[in-house]
Amino acid sequence: MISPLQIGVLALALISASQSVLGREQWLERDGRAIELNPRRFGQNHPPVLAKIRAACGHGICAKLAGAAVTPLLAAQGECTQQDFADQIIDTSKQFNATTQANMLALAIEYRQTEKNTRPDFKTKPQTPRNSVFCQKAPAHAELNGLVQAQDPANGDVFFDPATGQSVQRGAQPNTIPFAG
Ligand SMILES: *[C@@H]1O[C@H](CO)[C@@H](O)[C@H](O)[C@H]1NC(C)=O
Repeated sequence: MISPLQIGVLALALISASQSVLGREQWLERDGRAIELNPRRFGQNHPPVLAKIRAACGHGICAKLAGAAVTPLLAAQGECTQQDFADQIIDTSKQFNATTQANMLALAIEYRQTEKNTRPDFKTKPQTPRNSVFCQKAPAHAELNGLVQAQDPANGDVFFDPATGQSVQRGAQPNTIPFAG
C-alpha cells in the first residue's frame, strides 16, 4: 500500500525529473540523445518539418532521412550539424524527379531555419535562457546561403556553445554572429 506521503514524494521526483529534461527545449532529449516517444506523439514533440521530410520521397529513403534529422538539432550537437544535414537533404533529393527535388529543397530550407534545442543555464538564478551558436562555414548548396536557425526572441544575449559546454555573450566570439553577417 502506498501512503499519501509516498505519492507526494513520487510526484515531486517525477516533476523534477521532467523539468531537468524539458528545459525550454522543443523536444525531449537526455544526455545528448533524443528520447524515443510514442509515435502518436511524434507530431507534438517534433517540428512539423520532420513529418514533411518523412513524406517527401519513397522507398524508405525519406523515412530514414526524417529519423536522422532529429539528432543534428539536439543541444549538444556541433554548431554546423543542422546546416550539414540540410545539405544532405538536398544531396538526397538529386535521385528523384524535379517535383520531388523542388519539394525537398523547400524542406531543406525550412529545416535549416528550424529552432535548435538549447539548454538554459541552470547555474544562474533565475536560470538563463540561451541561444544556439551559429555555423561558421558556408553551406555546400548555395540555396542555403545566409540561412540560420531560429532563436527564441526571449533568449537575450547569452549563447550556449556545445564546443566548450559554456555560456558566451553575444559578440564575445565569432559563432555568436551568423556567418553571413
Ligand atoms: C515525381 O515522383 C513522384 C513520386 O514518385 C510522383 O508521385 C510524381 O508523379 C512524379 N512527378 C512527375 C512530374 O513525374
